[in-house]
Order: sequence, then C-alpha cells, then structure tokens
Amino acid sequence: MSSEDSERTLVLIKPDAVRRGLVGEILGRLERKGLTLAAVTLRTMSADLADAHYAEHVQRPFYPPLKQFMTSGPLVAAVVAGDQAVAVVRTLVGATDGRAAAAGTIRGDLSLSNRENLVHASDSAASAQREIALWFPAG
Ligand code: TYD
Ligand code: MG
Repeated sequence: MSSEDSERTLVLIKPDAVRRGLVGEILGRLERKGLTLAAVTLRTMSADLADAHYAEHVQRPFYPPLKQFMTSGPLVAAVVAGDQAVAVVRTLVGATDGRAAAAGTIRGDLSLSNRENLVHASDSAASAQREIALWFPAG
C-alpha cells in the first residue's frame, strides 16, 4: 500500500447543506467514489474557529458574510480518506461558484451560489493537515 492510499482531507458539509437535507446526498457521493469516512461530527462553527479555519481569507471583503453564513447553524465536519483524497474530493466538489461549477460536481449539480456552496474541502495536503488538527484536535 502506498502512502497515497491513506491520504486524508477535511470536508465540511456547510450549514446550507444541513438546512437543505443534503448531508446524505453529499456523503453518499464521497462514499460511492470509494472514499471512506475516518471521522464525522455535527457541530456549529464558533467565530474563533471560523477565523482560524479561513485564516487565508479573513482580510478579504467576502469574509464577513462568509463568517456569518458558516456560523449560522450546524455543519458536518468529516475526515475523508482514500487514494489522493485531497485532489479527488476537490474534483467531486467542483468550482467555488456553484453557478459556474461543472455539472456532475456537487456544487455544479446542487448550488446556485458563490457563498452558499454546500461543501468545504482542503486544497492541499498541508491545508488538510492544518484543518484536520483544527477540527479534530484529539487526533
Ligand atoms: P475559496 O477558498 O476561494 O474557495 P473554495 O471553497 O472552493 O476552496 O473561498 C472559501 C469560501 O469563501 C468559498 O467556499 C465561498 C466563499 N467565497 C465567497 O463567499 N465569495 C467569494 O468571492 C469567494 C472567492 C469565496
Ligand atoms: Mg479554499
């Protein structure tokens, strides 16, 4: 087994997806691809966790409404594992703006928004390691 076989990434099923009843749909797409769930929890993001999770974006003009949205209700945080899981999940999730995301992707099929776009997925192995430590500090 190569190291890629057990790569891990952080997925957040955002509050819009929870409100819309899409948790099963989104987890199902990841599972049907062959990825596995290494951890999963339902929780509401605190303001401090939002600032830490989105450290690269806190100074951006879109951050205040993004923070409001991300802390607006419960979300599902999951550690998703599998061969090249970081890149594979990003491909399944699709482009940031749901209006432009390709059909067949989660955002392309299910979101019409550049903010309420259903899913967060780590963008690199380093981001995944940082984000998993933030969300699952006990390991
Ligand atoms: P980003 O990391 O660029 O996108 P992705 O989630 O695809 O990695 O941005 C983080 C989140 O910020 C994005 O999922 C939705 C929100 N966002 C906006 O609300 N407006 C914007 O213009 C951008 C670029 C992002
Ligand atoms: Mg990002």
